[in-house]
Amino acid sequence: MSITVSAPGKLMLFGEHAVVYGHPCIVTAVDQRMTATLEQVQKQMFTLVAPDVGIEMYEKPMGELGRGEMPKNAGFVEMAVKNFFAQHPMQGGIRIETRSQFKSTFGFGSSSAVTVCVIKGLSALPGLQLSPREIFALSYKTVLDVQGKGSGFDIAAAIYGGTLSFAAGGKTIEPLTIDHLPLVVGYTGIKADTVTIINEVKALAEAQPGFVERVYKDMHDLVEASKEALARADWKTVGESMNKNQGYLDKLGVSSPMLDILIQTARDAGAYGAKLSGAGKGDCMIAIAEDIDRQKIGEAINHAGGQWIDVRVGAEGARIE
Ligand code: MEV
Repeated sequence: MSITVSAPGKLMLFGEHAVVYGHPCIVTAVDQRMTATLEQVQKQMFTLVAPDVGIEMYEKPMGELGRGEMPKNAGFVEMAVKNFFAQHPMQGGIRIETRSQFKSTFGFGSSSAVTVCVIKGLSALPGLQLSPREIFALSYKTVLDVQGKGSGFDIAAAIYGGTLSFAAGGKTIEPLTIDHLPLVVGYTGIKADTVTIINEVKALAEAQPGFVERVYKDMHDLVEASKEALARADWKTVGESMNKNQGYLDKLGVSSPMLDILIQTARDAGAYGAKLSGAGKGDCMIAIAEDIDRQKIGEAINHAGGQWIDVRVGAEGARIE
């Protein structure tokens, strides 16, 4: 018996970093997806085939999941299977093959999307049908087991899709009604390490707690105001909020020369506003503009040494294919 599940990647619109410390953020799902095919096998063995991240074939006895060595790119899938089977014991083993429509270096959340695919797929195999909340809890536990840190916003985007208002740990997961969001996305060509950057911001917060708390408070207010501007499709105000959010992230020290170049390029080419999206230091930047200007801004990003990624946002959440 086999099942194929897909889940979307994500882009953070507002509130990164502050969300790790209990503040809200806004995240949207992108129309590039991760796919996992799961097959129950008789042998008590876990097998992973993930060619997009260089894993031709990785095998481990089911009883040893989570123990000993875990190749970097296998960790999320292995821990997802371990956590699922700990709660829902089953006979036999599992073979999983993953495919991604986007590069794991973009910062679109390939680890969270693959984790969600595996948990949702396993929950459907024996006819358990876990609720989205239960899938969130198991997937978020898996992410924390592997990388120790994170708000879970990327997990929520992969499960629910659309555009969400989210607060750390899933305290709030609220879909926002936004029909259309004219974003332009540019990749810096630099892979950022989220956990390292979270730790750098934590060190800054320990050194200057009052300063960082004020930045988080300003971001919190900005997220609330941006929800209303997004609902009104008021792209000019959304753009101004993006510029403000970028200013706050700059204060936290998480921008980078390449992000600054691409953000300024997008603004100069006619975007209402632009900011980095995610942990910072690399990965992607986003800009908001009138539809008619998107192509011109995308080409300017390419010209400036970035890579324009032509995605649509507000995509559907995890689904059985
Ligand atoms: C990383 O994409 C966004 C952060 O806020 C981390 C997180 O929320 O898990 C920096």
